[in-house]
Amino acid sequence: MTTGNRFLMCPPDHYDVDYVINPWMEGNIHKLSRERAAEQWKTLHQVIRSGGSVDLLPPHEGVPDMVFTANAGLVLGRTVVLSRFYHEERQREEPHFKKWFEENGFTVHELPADVPFEGAGDALFDRAQPLLWAGYGFRTELDAHSYIAEWLSVEVVSLHLVDERFYHLDTCFCPLEDGYVLYFPPAFDRYSNHLIESRLPEERRIAVDEVDALAFACNAVNIGRKVIMNRASDSLKARLGAKGFAVFESPLSEFMKAGGAAKCLTLRLNEDIRREQAPTPPAVETRVIRLQGHLLDSGLIGSVLDAIIDGGGSFQVMQFQLGEQRQSLSIAEIKVIAQSGEVMEKLLSQLLRLGAQLQGEKESEAQLAEVTKDGVAPDDFYVTTIFPTEVCIGSEWIRLDNQRMDAAVVVRAAEASSAAQVTATCCLLRDLRVGDKVVVGVEGIRNVRKAKSYDSPTQRAVQEFTFMGSGVSSERRVELLVEQIAWDLRQIRDRGGKAIVTAGPVVIHTGGGEHLSKLIRDGYVQALLGGNAIAVHDIEQALMGTSLGVDLQRGVPVPGGHRHHLKVINLIRKHGSIAQAVDAGVVTKGIFYECVKHEVPFSLAGSIRDDGPLPDTEMDLLKAQAAYASLIQDADMILLLSSMLHSIGVANMTPAGVKLVCVDINPAVVTKLIDRGSLHSTGIVTDVGLFLSLLVQQLDRLTKPPKAA
Ligand code: ARG
Repeated sequence: MTTGNRFLMCPPDHYDVDYVINPWMEGNIHKLSRERAAEQWKTLHQVIRSGGSVDLLPPHEGVPDMVFTANAGLVLGRTVVLSRFYHEERQREEPHFKKWFEENGFTVHELPADVPFEGAGDALFDRAQPLLWAGYGFRTELDAHSYIAEWLSVEVVSLHLVDERFYHLDTCFCPLEDGYVLYFPPAFDRYSNHLIESRLPEERRIAVDEVDALAFACNAVNIGRKVIMNRASDSLKARLGAKGFAVFESPLSEFMKAGGAAKCLTLRLNEDIRREQAPTPPAVETRVIRLQGHLLDSGLIGSVLDAIIDGGGSFQVMQFQLGEQRQSLSIAEIKVIAQSGEVMEKLLSQLLRLGAQLQGEKESEAQLAEVTKDGVAPDDFYVTTIFPTEVCIGSEWIRLDNQRMDAAVVVRAAEASSAAQVTATCCLLRDLRVGDKVVVGVEGIRNVRKAKSYDSPTQRAVQEFTFMGSGVSSERRVELLVEQIAWDLRQIRDRGGKAIVTAGPVVIHTGGGEHLSKLIRDGYVQALLGGNAIAVHDIEQALMGTSLGVDLQRGVPVPGGHRHHLKVINLIRKHGSIAQAVDAGVVTKGIFYECVKHEVPFSLAGSIRDDGPLPDTEMDLLKAQAAYASLIQDADMILLLSSMLHSIGVANMTPAGVKLVCVDINPAVVTKLIDRGSLHSTGIVTDVGLFLSLLVQQLDRLTKPPKAA
């Protein structure tokens, strides 16, 4: 007998299947043999007793599942975290378990009433590392893990259970001596499998197949080198044998009818974290981050946890407050643990990019370093995001000017002002000058990702679509989305706001030119951004009825049509600019004609493939970027129409909060563009000509007076 092992069991006097709270119980109500159950339990009891002592919990009537003492609570030393059962049927067991623990000298911690946790059924200590594997998804809520971590001061690895047949962690996961783990990988989500694999070397992981898993092989009691379970296949026995474990089978078919077996019927009372067996803990660094937003809907929480693990760290979810309503925000506090300062630094900068805020006892100051070469930032300069950000300088939080992503932050004292006013500005690398003070590291920087108020029902609807499947809509939603966008455009125009269009030549090829022209004419567009091609094709279409030589009415190439676009370029060059050609009465319709006539500014950014180019096309890309940036200042909404190149350029310089609507026939482009963590993006996968025609129709409908009732 191994001295010191102590278990709690409860005789099956009142055991039965009286209700159904897991798939195993289905069809088994009152179907079990009490005698066989009693025998099976007795055998297990004897086997366990040969490896330690067993305390017996007096059985009670009306609580048939109380035999499953694993669910009484989670014991560590003389402390127990009492279970808070998810199902009402089992909540009736709680007072009995509580009484027993108190009478037996345990300190009892009780979770808040709304935080379900099912004890050692969902929380298992690793047998080599000081670490608790904790399950969630069916019976235990994730937020219970943070209470446990705090009360037992232990690191918790949270595992997400996804197969309802394996509703408790101990049905599919069993830590064994020397740091082995017996488990059934498909019972966990991909991320949890990643966690398990990153915590355990391959030779310590013993994955079972579905047959063994369904025979409750993972629901085992491990005492020394003995593994007690309902049943194991020969191959599993052999594999365990090779690792030095002997399987002891104790058939428990009657208990499986309620969804439990060996492990469920016992609770280890002598739990201890084997600190002496753990490798000397490295000098770990911990920092607490805070996340706020639509954490689940936007998938942000997943990205953050992934980033921590992928960056070589680990985490503890200390607090997770789920927004109660669809529109309310969730808040999470996560402790990030890293092996070294260097790893932590990298991790944190990644997390800041995702919108996390560092929590600290004291407000730390932003670190500054000087630029020593024009156009080059100090090595560990902070890279900006699209989210409103503040930096702490002289214990004041200063909001960044010119917020955009992929810039450095330059801090300046506003000259000669007595009030020592300080500014912090997002500055592109090429604009840095020797002597500029740039923010480095991760201290003293915070994102102020505010809850965006859901100001109109329309906007809410658009955002709801955005939440679905990363915001990319399918054809059937297009019409509804267009209706909402039309409504927004109308609001923006009527209040004197700013809507910008970025458009590629596909707008012309797909017959959208006339619709975009009308939008401009009707005052819905405050600036137009594009490249050489959209202007050339628009004017070719206006002058010759073709787009790249193709007759748009008939959809066929016209003879000699391939020369049309060069003729157009040449003509505009002759006049000096598009505006001059319009003034000369040469160009009399089309998108750019409307821009000139209605004084809508446009900017054409050149590229390597441009013919001509038009005199209006800016071939100096730095100047083109600057022109785009100044046109999108204070935009309320930007339509990105079928031009990946120009759209990405625009999206990169747009701060969060500006509504981006991306329309492209290629879903990959749409996803790439709107997948920037901003809730204000809507993606529509459709033909852009069709989109524009629907948009114009909708706007017309909004303008017509409603029919009399
Ligand atoms: N019928 C019980 C339930 O569904 C079975 C509990 C099994 N216990 C366990 N630790 N897996 O709650």
